[in-house]
Amino acid sequence: MKKYILILIITSSIIAKADEGIWMPQLIDALNFKDMKKNGFKLSAQQIYSINKASMKDAVAIFGGGCTAEVISNKGLILTNHHCGFSSIAAISSIEKDYLKNGYFAMNEKEEIYCKGLNVTFIKGIEDVTIKVNKNIKSNFSEKQKDSTIQINCKLLEEIAESGNHYEAFIRPFFYGNEYYLFITEVFKDIRLVGAPPESIGKFGGETDNWVWPRHNADFSMFRIYSNKDNKPAEYNADNLPYKPLYSFPISLKGAENGDFTMVYGFPGKTQEYLTSYAVDLLMNQQDPIRVKLRETRLNIMEVDMKKNDTIRLMYTNRYAGVANGYKKWTGEMIGLKKSDAINKKKAFESKFLNLILNDPNKKEKYTNLLKQFEKIYSDYAPLSKQYDYFSECLWGIDGFRMANSFTNVFNELKKKQAGKENKFNSLLNDIKPILPFKNFNKETDKKLCIALLNIFIKDIEPTLRPLYLDSLINVYKGNITELCDFLYNNSSFVDNSKAALMFQDFEKKSILYEHDPIYLLASSIFQHYQKTIIPKINYYDRQINELQKEYMQGLKETIKDKTFYPDANGTLRVAYGKVSDYEGKDGVKFLHYTTIDGLIEKNKTGKEDFYVKERLIELYNKKDFGQYADKSGKLRTAFIGSNHTTGGNSGSPVLNAKGELIGTNFDRNWEGTMSDIMYNKDFCRNISLDIRFTLWVLDKYAGAGYLLNEMKLKK
Ligand code: ARG
Ligand code: ASP
Repeated sequence: MKKYILILIITSSIIAKADEGIWMPQLIDALNFKDMKKNGFKLSAQQIYSINKASMKDAVAIFGGGCTAEVISNKGLILTNHHCGFSSIAAISSIEKDYLKNGYFAMNEKEEIYCKGLNVTFIKGIEDVTIKVNKNIKSNFSEKQKDSTIQINCKLLEEIAESGNHYEAFIRPFFYGNEYYLFITEVFKDIRLVGAPPESIGKFGGETDNWVWPRHNADFSMFRIYSNKDNKPAEYNADNLPYKPLYSFPISLKGAENGDFTMVYGFPGKTQEYLTSYAVDLLMNQQDPIRVKLRETRLNIMEVDMKKNDTIRLMYTNRYAGVANGYKKWTGEMIGLKKSDAINKKKAFESKFLNLILNDPNKKEKYTNLLKQFEKIYSDYAPLSKQYDYFSECLWGIDGFRMANSFTNVFNELKKKQAGKENKFNSLLNDIKPILPFKNFNKETDKKLCIALLNIFIKDIEPTLRPLYLDSLINVYKGNITELCDFLYNNSSFVDNSKAALMFQDFEKKSILYEHDPIYLLASSIFQHYQKTIIPKINYYDRQINELQKEYMQGLKETIKDKTFYPDANGTLRVAYGKVSDYEGKDGVKFLHYTTIDGLIEKNKTGKEDFYVKERLIELYNKKDFGQYADKSGKLRTAFIGSNHTTGGNSGSPVLNAKGELIGTNFDRNWEGTMSDIMYNKDFCRNISLDIRFTLWVLDKYAGAGYLLNEMKLKK
C-alpha cells in the first residue's frame, strides 16, 4: 500500500500543471494530457496534434512574421488580430481607400484583396533531431568548431527535409541547445484580406488600454488563403482557389465562465523562464529601467508634436505605437517582477538546486561552480549591456541617424562601380528611391529627439566610452548639444526632405558631397564604433551565457524532479492551457474575468481620443440588437482573461474551450502580468482574449458581412 501511494505521488508530481508552461504539442500526450483531463479537457491528445490524421495543428498557422492565425472555415478563411493584420492592411490602403480608418469587408470572394508579401505557414511535422545535429562533434572541439559543425548539420538536415517536396524546413534549438527539433512547414503565399473593422474598433483604447485589463477592442482581422488547383501553395494568381484545409475550428457561441478550461494554440516568440537571479537582477535593475527611460523621452517628444499638428500625428502614429508597446511592456514587467519578489525567488530556487547537487558527487563536481560562473559573467556583461542599450535605444532612436546610415551600402557599391568592379549600385539606389523623400519623418521633431537623446547620452556615458567622432563633435561644441544639433540638422541632406528629394537625381555626381554630409559622417562612425567594439563582445558573452544556460538547464532537469520543464518560447508551435480566471490586481481590487460592450460605451463617454468610436457603433449599441451573440443575461461580452501562459507571437492565437471549440482570439496580457516572459506568476499573469461573439457581432451587425458565417461551423 505504501509503495502504491509513493508511486502515485511520484507520477502525479512529474505531470505538468495547468497555468504555467508553453508546451510542445507532440509531447502533450506524455507530459500534460492527464493534467489537461483533470482540468476539464474533453478531447484526446491526438486531436491536438497528429501527423497521420487531421488535427488542430493543421488549423494553426504562423501569420506573417510574428503572429498566429487560425483556420475557421473549410474554405481557407483565417482569423487573426487587427494589430497582426495592421501592416498588410496599411499596405493596401490609400488616402481614398483608407481601410485602417474606415475598415474593410469584402462582400464576396471577388472583393477580397491580395496582400503582397504576406505568408501563412502551417506545420506539417516535428522531429527530434538532437542526435543528428550533434553528429561529428568531438569532445576536443572548440566552441567555434562545435558551432560550425552544428550549423553544417542543420543545413544538411533542412536540405534533406526539403528535397523532393514543396515543403520548407527549419531547425531550432530547445533548452539552450540541449535539444534540437526540425519543423517541416507548408508556406502559402496568396493571402487576401477578407475583412477588418475600422481602427476605432480594432484598436479601440489605443495606447491607453494597451497591455491593460479591462479591455474593449475588437482586435481582429480576417484573411483567406488561396492555393492552386491542386490545393498547394502558389504565388498570387487571380485563378487561384480558396484553400481547402485539413482542419478548421468549430466556433462556440456559448462563451466561457470563471474556472472553465481554456487552451491557447500558437507560436509564442520568446520567453526566458530559466534565467538565474543574476540575469533577472540585470534585467530589472539595469536593462528595463534604461530602456524605459530612453523610450519615455522619445514618447514625450513625439507626443507633444503629434498633438500640435495632425500631419505629424499621422506620420508618427505607427512609430509611436511601436515605441510605446515596448515601453509599456517593460514598465509592467518591472512592476510584476518586483511584486513577485522575483530575484529572491530565483535565489531560493538556486539554493535548492545547489543543496540537491551536494548530495550527489557526480553532479557536485559538474555543477557546483555554475552559479558562481553566472555571477562573474553577468558582472562583466552588465557594462557592455548598458553600452549596447545606449546605442540601440538612444543613438539609434534618432531616425535621421538610422536613415543616413542606411546609405552606407550605396556608397560602398558606388566605389566598386567607380573602380570598374562588379557592383549593385544601380539596383541599391533604385531600392532606396521609394523612400526618398523620407515619409513619416519630420525634421523638427527628429531634431528635438536628437537634442534630448544626445543630452542624456553625454550625461550617462562617460567620454572614454563614447564613439570617438561623436565625442570630438561634442568637444568642438563645448558640450552644447543644441548648437551641435543646429549644425547637424541645418547642413544635412539626409534629414531635409527638399534636399533628399534631389539626392536621387544627382547621387552619383555628388557622392563625395553626400559622403561628407555631417549626419551621414556622424551616424556611420557611430555605427562602425559599435559594430567594431561593443557588438562582438556582446555576441561573445551571449555565446558564453548560452553555454552556461545549457549546462544549468541540463542540471535542473537532472536534479529538480518535482517539476516538468517546458522549453522557452522560440517561435515554434506550442500549447498553453489554463482557465478563464479573474484576478486580484492590487490589494482590494479584484478584476472580473470578462468585459461587455457597456464598458466600451462608458469609455467612449469620457471623450478621450483613444476611445472614439463611429456613430454607427453607438446606434447599434442603443438598439441592443445582440442576437445570438448575447450572453445569458443579454449582454454582449467583448473580452475575457485566463491563466494561459502566453507571450508576444501568441497574438491571434485561437483560444479554445474543453471541446476544442473556438471561444476567442488571444491578443494581449495584463500589465503586471507581462513579467510572465521571465517568471510566470499564476496569481496575476493573465492572457487577454477577444470574445468570438464580439468578433462575430461586429462582422454580422456592424459590417453587414454576415454571409461569412455560412462557411463557419457555429455551435450554439
Ligand atoms: N500589446 C500588444 C502585443 O504586443 C500589441 C497591441 C498593439 N496595439 C497598440 N495599441 N500598440 O504586443
Ligand atoms: N500582443 C502580443 C502579440 O502581439 C501578445 C502578448 O505579448 O501577450 O503577440
